[in-house]
Amino acid sequence: MPTPHKTLWSGRFSSDLTTETIAFTHSIEADTRLIGYDIWGSQAHAIMLARQNIISDADLKEILYWLRKAEEDFQNGTLTLDPNKEDVHMNVESYLIENAGIEFGGKLHTARSRNDQVLVDARLYIRDEILNVKRGISTLCEGFLSIAKEHVDTVMPGYTHTQHAQPISLGFWATAYVSMFFRDQKRLQAAYELVNTNPLGACALAGTTFPIDRNITTDLLGFDSTHEHALDVISSRDFIAETLFALSLAMANLSRISEELVYWTTYEFGIAELDDAYSSGSSIMPQKKNADIAELTRGRTGRVYGALMDLLTNLKGLPLGYNRDFQEDKPPLWEAFDIVKACLGILPNLLNTTEFKTERMTDLVNANFATATELANYLVKEHQISFRESHEIVGWLVGELVAQEKTFLDWELTQNLLKQKDIDLPISELQQILDAKLAIQNNQSLGGTSPAEVSRIINSFEEQLNEIAKHIYTCQTQIENAINETQRIIEETLAK
Ligand code: ARG
Repeated sequence: MPTPHKTLWSGRFSSDLTTETIAFTHSIEADTRLIGYDIWGSQAHAIMLARQNIISDADLKEILYWLRKAEEDFQNGTLTLDPNKEDVHMNVESYLIENAGIEFGGKLHTARSRNDQVLVDARLYIRDEILNVKRGISTLCEGFLSIAKEHVDTVMPGYTHTQHAQPISLGFWATAYVSMFFRDQKRLQAAYELVNTNPLGACALAGTTFPIDRNITTDLLGFDSTHEHALDVISSRDFIAETLFALSLAMANLSRISEELVYWTTYEFGIAELDDAYSSGSSIMPQKKNADIAELTRGRTGRVYGALMDLLTNLKGLPLGYNRDFQEDKPPLWEAFDIVKACLGILPNLLNTTEFKTERMTDLVNANFATATELANYLVKEHQISFRESHEIVGWLVGELVAQEKTFLDWELTQNLLKQKDIDLPISELQQILDAKLAIQNNQSLGGTSPAEVSRIINSFEEQLNEIAKHIYTCQTQIENAINETQRIIEETLAK
């Protein structure tokens, strides 16, 4: 007898599930964003079944008609996912059976399991989201490159240990982030390739005795290839772990920019100022202007790492085959994508509206011996002493100046101190050697901070951004062609 909670798999069960069981096991919230992919997967599967004469053309027509209707009804709110039906797959199949009748709707699940079905949905979803994240990263890189172009010879202190190290250009700083984000693009692309293989046809775990052709659904769903080993593909979620790892490192990089923006905008540093529209204030202290967007990005990084740790822990020790534990892979993955996309959505605006205080950067670079290495290099080149000896001399010079609360800019003192070490330099020469702008100009080694190198790097990075955009376009086109081909077959079938 049908019961209120009768499920499509309840044949062997003699009692209903309790509401508690249903509440505990369903995955409706996480599944809602999969319905479009679930329907596309079902359309491709049904077309394959008909091509292989496993179902008839009349069956196919009926199934395709109602699958399309399910999509429309979901869009217009007539079809909502019911937790009593457990997941998105059962909701769509029940809709089909209710509307097309069991004699048609009941055939869709031939040679298929929810185990391969859920993998199709997840892979199609992740594929789209990886491309979205890649686009977001490229937009951020464009922001960094426009800062770089404007500031190839704007000097600022470069830091090691957060202490003044050597002068660099702001453009050099900005291109460093682009260089980092290109590796994120590569990691995301590598994850994309692991994601983009077709699990459909693996069925529950063992394949099937029906004469299916898995390559048909591979093409119709725009996958690169068919994931051959049925038991492996059903048992594995490492494609999600790879995706979460790529997202985690992207967040690490976003969090590092955020950290720099937080302290660059402090009174103490004062080398950047955020636009009012991208900051926030205090409810008690009227003077406050805070870098909350940067802090929230930094703070949300932990949630993305948490998603990765969650999944890795989920996978540990699972026996081969499908395990319901896998259902828990989706909420953290969704959250990770949502966080990364939100951060990538706002950070380019935050960055593009930030004002860099270039005068303050110059003052800082001159205030604290950032060109000491240049003086040491000069002595090696012009005074035939070893670098270690010259390091010692310049170190001593700095120590003396610090003791007297002076800097290199106290030129006469600097000159006289050097004389004590038998180094006699005219002040005009000292000024050249210790000039931060000249220092960066002369750092012309490959990948160094010179404007010439930074300009070359900017050009090369712009080309790489173009290549990435072309690749995203190729992936997107492969997906769209597959959607169009599926839709074309549906039109053709429905017109018969
Ligand atoms: N909701 C399930 C998941 O997300 C779908 C697959 C269920 N399969 C099963 N044999 N119970 O993993």
